[in-house]
Amino acid sequence: MRIDVVSIFPTIFDALEVSLLGKARTTGLLDVRVHDLRDYTHDRHRTVDDTPYGGGAGMVMKPEPWGEALDDIVGEVDQRPVIIFPSPAGERFTQATARELSAAPHLVFGCGRYEGIDERVFDYAAELGDVRLISLGDYVLNGGEVAVMAMVEAIGRLIPGVVGNPESLVEESHEDGLLEYPSYTKPSVWRGREAPPVLLSGNHGAVAAWRREQQLVRTRERRPDLLAD
Ligand code: ADE
Repeated sequence: MRIDVVSIFPTIFDALEVSLLGKARTTGLLDVRVHDLRDYTHDRHRTVDDTPYGGGAGMVMKPEPWGEALDDIVGEVDQRPVIIFPSPAGERFTQATARELSAAPHLVFGCGRYEGIDERVFDYAAELGDVRLISLGDYVLNGGEVAVMAMVEAIGRLIPGVVGNPESLVEESHEDGLLEYPSYTKPSVWRGREAPPVLLSGNHGAVAAWRREQQLVRTRERRPDLLAD
């Protein structure tokens, strides 16, 4: 999969060089390219924002650098990309979104800052690819970068080969609509706290039933909204 990220803080994405995603980049499973939006400006101050038409607080990202960045990135690749703009005003990002996007050959992420990006950029981007505005959750971040980091990690780990043991993907929270069961390892008693004896019983059926029950109990306690769905 190819992933392009456009941001005015490209170094934030240095973190994608480590751990499983970093390894996937060296082995060629993931081709991540980070672009500095300011490289697509032409003035001495490398200006990316301006005051909002109609007035109001804050600044708006100018359309011209975005147009040039998108042209440059999309022109390089044959397939029509999915172009994602993280936004608190977007559709909610879920495990299902991650799974769907992990099947796309090319994702482009555009990180907004300030009060957002000139709305015409989304309209123009729709000529180049399938545009999605996606929110990480019902809270506001200072910009899209941290949201993109989270999305790239959630999507990237679903690409076959990125996570060494594919079975570990199946039993996780949200994969079957429930929260994950609790995990324990040795020692069997730690600081007076015992690991659940059923897990040491060697009875695979009993272990599976206990884990399922724990998933339901946890989900009912912590995320009843998931059960309602
Ligand atoms: N940018 C600012 N807040 C955001 C959020 N909650 N999700 C995605 N992008 C954002």
